[in-house]
Amino acid sequence: MSKNINNKLNKLIKYYSLINYNLIFNNKSINRYNQKQPNIKKEKVKNLQKLREQISEIKNCKLKENASNLVFSDGNPDSKIMIIGEGPGANEDKEGFPFVGRAGQLLDKMLHAINLSRKNVYITNVVNYRPPENRKPTDKEVQKYLPYLKKHIEIISPKIVLLLGSTAMNAIMQNTEVISKMRGKWFEVHISNFKIYTIVSFHPAYLLRQPDQKKFSWIDLKMIREKLKKI
Ligand code: URA
Repeated sequence: MSKNINNKLNKLIKYYSLINYNLIFNNKSINRYNQKQPNIKKEKVKNLQKLREQISEIKNCKLKENASNLVFSDGNPDSKIMIIGEGPGANEDKEGFPFVGRAGQLLDKMLHAINLSRKNVYITNVVNYRPPENRKPTDKEVQKYLPYLKKHIEIISPKIVLLLGSTAMNAIMQNTEVISKMRGKWFEVHISNFKIYTIVSFHPAYLLRQPDQKKFSWIDLKMIREKLKKI
């Protein structure tokens, strides 16, 4: 990276550490200035900003070419729990944040049911640009974004990862299973050289189509609530 870019990056980091972290990743005009400022390590902010830049520089990607915004993350980077979805939809593409549409509203309700919110979870997706017509990202696209996702997990270093839906599960657990077989259990997943308690559950968009499956999600959510008490 050139000296110029490095200087620019350092200035940005100084600036971002003076203001609310969420502003970095927020292009909404809602009143975020009044939120309590989390005390996030400068190193983490720097690494997240770097990762975001690297993703924005991805070349030859059809997803990126068709999308309006890079959708990086939302929530608290110091959270013990990181939630990973599939990829941005139309609302997320427009706003630049994950899970802001109907599925996101359901996710917020699910989190609320176990006393969590975006203030104490961190949310991202497998791919950071919207797949056209809300299709699933292809295996090739998933493989392209996987190193960035792993780096993202490494930077956040959560104690718990919640994988929502089969795209996130198949990518992180390197399997071809279906959620119904894998949910309701804890797995230990190794990313870099640390171990993360991992649980998979139904994607909120699926729950909107199949509300009778919410009872299973509730079991998974309660497992997370219990785990959080112990770690
Ligand atoms: N579905 C996802 O998987 N991610 C989002 O951000 C929105 C919908």
